[in-house]
Amino acid sequence: MSSRLNAAKWSPDSWRSKPIVQVPDYPDAAWLAGVEAQLANYPPLVFAGEARNLKKALAQVAAGKMFLLQGGDCAESFAEHGANNIRDFFRLFLQMAVVLTYAAACPVVKVGRIAGQFAKPRTSPTEKRGGVELPVYRGDIINGTEFTTEARTPDPRRQLEAYRQSAATLNLLRAFANGGYANLSNAHQWMLSFVKDSPQSKRYQDLASRLTEALDFMRACGIDPEVHPEMRTTDFFTSHEALLLGYEQAFTRIDSTTGDWYCTSGHMVWIGDRTRQADHAHVEYCRGIKNPLGLKTGPTQKPDELLKLMDILDPDNEPGRLTLICRVGADKVADLLPSLVRAIKREGRNVVWSCDPMHGNTITSVTGYKTRPFDQILKEVRTFFQIHAAEGTIAGGVHLEMTGQNVTECTGGARALSEADLRSRYMTYCDPRLNAEQSIEIAFLVAEKLKKERQALATADAAE
Ligand code: PEP
Ligand code: CO
Repeated sequence: MSSRLNAAKWSPDSWRSKPIVQVPDYPDAAWLAGVEAQLANYPPLVFAGEARNLKKALAQVAAGKMFLLQGGDCAESFAEHGANNIRDFFRLFLQMAVVLTYAAACPVVKVGRIAGQFAKPRTSPTEKRGGVELPVYRGDIINGTEFTTEARTPDPRRQLEAYRQSAATLNLLRAFANGGYANLSNAHQWMLSFVKDSPQSKRYQDLASRLTEALDFMRACGIDPEVHPEMRTTDFFTSHEALLLGYEQAFTRIDSTTGDWYCTSGHMVWIGDRTRQADHAHVEYCRGIKNPLGLKTGPTQKPDELLKLMDILDPDNEPGRLTLICRVGADKVADLLPSLVRAIKREGRNVVWSCDPMHGNTITSVTGYKTRPFDQILKEVRTFFQIHAAEGTIAGGVHLEMTGQNVTECTGGARALSEADLRSRYMTYCDPRLNAEQSIEIAFLVAEKLKKERQALATADAAE
């Protein structure tokens, strides 16, 4: 299946000779090159063996044996870097995973959009305010949000700060995942205080009580979480969009155990919807690294172009290598997804199908805020499951923009946030995120759909 494009020689910098979009305009190229050289000497953030473990887990997702939960900020920010934010995000993630694992009896692969999710693709290279035009904000790894020439000029030193923040975040996540916080016996304590009086909290606390009973029963039978690491610890992986390729190249290292190239700035990286041109730099960079890859699939993606991209990115049809993250919008998914699913099924391709119900459902509210109606988000998830059930394929995961903070960025949900409510706690640096309550509500919906999918798979297996 190897294409001509794929047979061409690859190196960590071969992307530099390709056309590229979404690149910041750094005023001092020598300074940028100096920072990239400095980063290339820094220790990797993740180990290649971990990326391989994630790939193995994603192969299980592709086979319908596990479910992928991927989520986090649209853009991490330097200003909001703190232990409480990371903890609240992690505990929300654990709650959602428990809902899916317990309610749908399905193991969950946990992948955060975190510890490296800093660079943002933008629709326009500049922003105008009152007759003044400045470079657009492209994420804290590149420039600042403030509307001044100084803040908006890309500054290479920000890459060093992004590395520092990623390392510190990852360190704390590893501690939470392995140091006892993720112990299933703590399921009641993961509830965030501001969610406590909501309908979602009641549902969650009921489930946590059933889980506690089950754990007590197991303990009575002699199976104690203290002696079973799988009940005390969890695997948590990191991911981000591989957008700022100079930074990614600096972290592209040869794995000494296999001799293969890995991107060591995160376990999984994805190609965004704006940078997925088959002959361009971002696809060139990603084809040569062995990490599991995500590929965003927006409304303009055609089945034949998708197959061509898959030939380049996954010539060996390796299970777990490629996750297609579909983000077409609630009103388009029924029209657009079936032809993609059929093309891939016809070619016998191993992929994880994941649903990003966020990026195709962004609107501007009458009050001027970028928002996403919760009902549309739910509708895209529901339709995604329906299509896979009808096509006999596997709805493998969801990809969400979410935060453990009590924000008001997406309208709707159990508290029926209105457009007027958005201004009270609108904190995102880029796209609107689900707050904790809305995220748990989605987790319950997905659990219900997943349970049905798994029952259908079990029936089909029994009939074979
Ligand atoms: C994102 O995930 O924040 C993003 C920009 O997505 P997309 O490339 O799908 O627009
Ligand atoms: Co986004």
